[in-house]
Amino acid sequence: MATKKKGGAKIEAPSSMGRKTAAMMVEPAKGKLGVMVVGMGAVATTMIAGVEAVRRGLAKPIGSLTQMGTIRLGKRTDNHSPLIKDFVPLADLKDIVFTGWDIFEDNVYEAAAHAAVLGPETLKKLKPYLQKIKPMPAVFDRYYVKRLDGTHVKKGKNKRDLAEQLRADIRAFKKTVNRVVMIWAGSTEIFLKPTAVHQSIEAFEKGLEKNDPGIAPSQIYAYAALKEAVPFANGAPNLTVDVPAMIELSKQNAAPICGKDFKTGQTFMKTVLAPAFKARMIGVKGWFSTNILGNRDGEVLDEPHSFKTKEESKLGSLEYIFQPDLYPDLYSDIYHKIRINYYPPRGDEKEAWDNIDIFGWLGYPMQLKVNFLCRDSILAAPIALDLVLFLDLAKRTPELRSIGIQEWLSFYWKSPQTAKGLYPEHDLFIQSMKLKNTLRHIMGADLITHLGLEYYD
Ligand SMILES: NC(=O)c1ccc[n+]([C@@H]2O[C@H](COP(=O)([O-])OP(=O)(O)OC[C@H]3O[C@@H](n4cnc5c(N)ncnc54)[C@H](O)[C@@H]3O)[C@@H](O)[C@H]2O)c1
Repeated sequence: MATKKKGGAKIEAPSSMGRKTAAMMVEPAKGKLGVMVVGMGAVATTMIAGVEAVRRGLAKPIGSLTQMGTIRLGKRTDNHSPLIKDFVPLADLKDIVFTGWDIFEDNVYEAAAHAAVLGPETLKKLKPYLQKIKPMPAVFDRYYVKRLDGTHVKKGKNKRDLAEQLRADIRAFKKTVNRVVMIWAGSTEIFLKPTAVHQSIEAFEKGLEKNDPGIAPSQIYAYAALKEAVPFANGAPNLTVDVPAMIELSKQNAAPICGKDFKTGQTFMKTVLAPAFKARMIGVKGWFSTNILGNRDGEVLDEPHSFKTKEESKLGSLEYIFQPDLYPDLYSDIYHKIRINYYPPRGDEKEAWDNIDIFGWLGYPMQLKVNFLCRDSILAAPIALDLVLFLDLAKRTPELRSIGIQEWLSFYWKSPQTAKGLYPEHDLFIQSMKLKNTLRHIMGADLITHLGLEYYD
């Protein structure tokens, strides 16, 4: 039976663990994990400052499943639920090293102060560490994010040249750490649809050479990461790796990818409430969602082309959860509307309202109102951290690293990515089960089906 030691304690997974051969075992998380963050704005700086605060014992990693979550192993009567981080070999927070790129020169302390998510008291304590992290010049083009303009930007003769410069950045960073993961926490780009240039690696590389307008900066970063065999996560709703060329590259170079657009506020709530209505066969007529937020993300999303990208990502969840084809009487006629309003006085402290028109027995109407006063980056930062740690785990897992899309990480995304022909799973609790069963599976533990008949034998 395989065991993992943590602080003297032994975590044992019951039953089938012995079946794993050495070649199937997850490699240990030895040495430093380098995290390359694209876009050092509100989410990125809140994650980096938060990790440092936790490392110093100044705060708890609340909201992070990898740091606080447990996983049940074996039967309910076994009473065996270790912490996830004691069950699977995740990188320790103390071994994480951050770097990244931004179109502004501000170091992470200055960027965090500008984002104003964390208060000056907190930031002051972390200042010596944060100000040492300075972004590298970015690959940026205003055509794709119209509301931003920065000067800390790479120059190159074409997109291929820019990709090569990013690859050189990655290779240089790799020399200082043992493993690398990249996460996009940059702005939302204009809405792009896949075109011929995205259909194969060859077409994409020709497109880089020819400066194809279908290739956005986020795709140049993703391409550079995957070419360097570095896993890539996409916190924004941008098209990025959601195209055949990137999926092919991800498999070819054993560089895991996953869905897009952190599932934080309103969509998080939607993917909890909608499955509840469906489970009880309650009908839905309309779902109106509106938000006010005043951070830089809000400013970027105030521009219609960037908003369209976000809107598409947010709209998908209800359609997939409700399955109107299976339940035409309940869900075939839903009016779903989403608004995001830029309102500077609120900064990162977003407020979201949902009005849901539902109907029950014999069609009698009812309403549910949700008013979520959240903090955008406080919700997103632990998600970004978990994704980084789980992608690094996927890379060290023989069974996962070459499959491309990591569907088991759907839990974190507004737009989960799936294999061709599969519909994405949006229900938060199915996603959570899928994630935990994947962890049990890679560690050779029994899956939990929730059947439970054995307790009544
Ligand atoms: N906070 C949330 O709850 C949440 C949820 C889902 C998705 N997101 C997405 O995460 C992303 C980051 O959000 P944020 O609130 O931190 O935004 P932000 O505007 O504070 O930060 C984005 C940063 O990216 C930089 N940037 C833009 N283009 C870049 C490029 N090509 N290369 C390098 N840097 C670039 C910007 O200069 C900025 O510093 C946004 O796309 C947002 O839509 C956030």
